[in-house]
Amino acid sequence: MGGKVEPACIGVFDSGVGGLSVLRAIRALLPQHPVLYMADQAHVPYGPRSLEEVRGFAEAITRFLLAEGARVIVVACNTASAAALHYLRGTFPDVPFVGMEPAVKPAAEQTHSGRVGVLATRATFQGALYASVVERFARHVRLYQDTCPGLVESIEAGDLDGETPRSILERTLKPMLAEGIDTVVLGCTHYPFVIPLIQEIVGPGVRVIDPAPAVARQTQRVLEIRGWLAPEGCRADVRFFTSGEVGRFQVQVQRLLGSEGGEVESVIWEQGELRRGLR
Ligand code: DGL
Repeated sequence: MGGKVEPACIGVFDSGVGGLSVLRAIRALLPQHPVLYMADQAHVPYGPRSLEEVRGFAEAITRFLLAEGARVIVVACNTASAAALHYLRGTFPDVPFVGMEPAVKPAAEQTHSGRVGVLATRATFQGALYASVVERFARHVRLYQDTCPGLVESIEAGDLDGETPRSILERTLKPMLAEGIDTVVLGCTHYPFVIPLIQEIVGPGVRVIDPAPAVARQTQRVLEIRGWLAPEGCRADVRFFTSGEVGRFQVQVQRLLGSEGGEVESVIWEQGELRRGLR
């Protein structure tokens, strides 16, 4: 009677390495739960694409992660959340989803100057989710938005502190500083990897909000509500998948996550669906 029940597996996805900032927080809080991480690097960046196109990717990735054993899906991408979260919840009604929205609510609560910078992709700013968060929580705050063109690509290329990300961020942040912002919201999961550079540009007096720890706590709550939260103990594995180049992603994972890294497997897009590639 009663064989050992495996802790619920958490499926996490993003267009690329950005969701690794969320994975890092999930591993810190829930190391006992196995994780599947999918980077859709065949399609990165998502930001300039239409919401419909990103929705199609998100649905197929969700199907893939569920088929591989995930029971909870964390959409570790603001763009995919903006494009698809509502749709995914309707399409997979039995699956709990944890999504992301720019952390405008805590920023609006914490700002003293009443001026907040928000960095996110174009698609995220276009989505109904962002409009609704602003409408509900930030009507009394002045928001300065920027899509930081090129920054996701630079982070994907492993350039976290070179000339390119520095000039993109200076061009973005200096006018916001001149307007008196005291808080910066990172509304794209790639951006926490350049927090040291952002903090250097804005100085110690400006607060930079990385939503990853809050997403990890929400994942924990979702597991708890379902009765799936496993007792702490052993450290479960993470499996990584990419629709891009396996060797390249392996290096990125190693560089960004260090000891948390692991083997990367290949997945291939075929007629709008994902299937496992050759190893
Ligand atoms: N990391 C993603 C986000 O949070 C997507 C960035 C992109 O692919 O443009 O929005």
